[in-house]
Amino acid sequence: MLTKRGYGLNRRDFIRLAGGTVAALGFSGALTPKLARAIEKAAAGRPKVVWLHFASDTGCTESFIKSDHPSAGELVLDILSVDYHESIMAAAGKQADEVLAKAVAGKDYICVVEGGIPTVPGHGMINGREMLDIAKEVCGNAKAVVAIGSCAVDGGVPAAKPNPSRILGVGEAIGKPVVNLPCCPVNPEWLVGTVVYVLTMGKLPELDKKGRPLMFYGRKIHDNCPRRTHFDGGRFVEAFGSKEEAQGYCLYKMGCKGPEAWSECPKTRWNSKESWCIEIGSPCLGCSENQWTDNFAPFYGKLADVALPFGDLTADKIGVGIAVATGAAIVGHAVVKASRGKSADDSKK
Ligand code: SF4
Ligand code: F3S
Repeated sequence: MLTKRGYGLNRRDFIRLAGGTVAALGFSGALTPKLARAIEKAAAGRPKVVWLHFASDTGCTESFIKSDHPSAGELVLDILSVDYHESIMAAAGKQADEVLAKAVAGKDYICVVEGGIPTVPGHGMINGREMLDIAKEVCGNAKAVVAIGSCAVDGGVPAAKPNPSRILGVGEAIGKPVVNLPCCPVNPEWLVGTVVYVLTMGKLPELDKKGRPLMFYGRKIHDNCPRRTHFDGGRFVEAFGSKEEAQGYCLYKMGCKGPEAWSECPKTRWNSKESWCIEIGSPCLGCSENQWTDNFAPFYGKLADVALPFGDLTADKIGVGIAVATGAAIVGHAVVKASRGKSADDSKK
């Protein structure tokens, strides 16, 4: 395959890719040479990928083309054979249909699905065909199906109430188990990590009950959040533009859904690990969870049923409480010290 650097990836490229993947997946660095060999071997066969688009804003493709461990270019040109992708391929119209028919003929491909699937007849059509029929046929014959982004996982934003097109996630629409990679958009490293895992390990990663790989969705954001010490200390932002916001306090009272959201956003981060939602000052909207647009509305409304460390008190009252408690502790300590001193003095008698 002709690339910018010449023909394909060289040995050093594979070591670099493996190093990035090892870091992204949180594996030990000692695995790098082994993983490099495995990626090289997998790339020699260039597994086929067919990428389908349904009801979405193409944000996950935008996210994917920003991937850098490896880059989308390396993935598309050197490691995988992405035989069909409506947004990045040159073919269009009838020619695109022919490309798809040829790509799926051998039933030897992984199908990546972006977007939810309208199930009301006539509400989601591509070139005269129902999206649902295309999904059933192409996903039905795939070796594995990976649903990327919230829309493909459970309908996402397009399926928000009242959902007149009855948009479903791909797994539910086609009635087949799929690997679910939610979030809006999907983090490109989770997609790349899942594909590389399958290629190198020859099996799917361990999944949770919602079909999400545990290596990317195994921990709550709240348990991994750099603002957690402020939550535990009762220090909250109560208004945007406040000094508490400038001090980076906890965003729970501004509607943060981190206590209910499971994903590795704080660790994987976005844009070449530059930042992520909470770091740039936005409450987490919980987009890693099913029906997040309905279940977590209003986005800036406080989650119910989260036990606050000091009850639902303001930071000022907590401050007073701590001062009182501290004062009591100092007095108590002084009493104990005095009585110990007295005992010690007594013992000298
Ligand atoms: Fe972080 Fe949100 Fe939890 Fe606060 S509520 S510690 S901002 S995840
Ligand atoms: Fe979504 Fe929250 Fe991560 S909004 S992208 S789950 S920080």
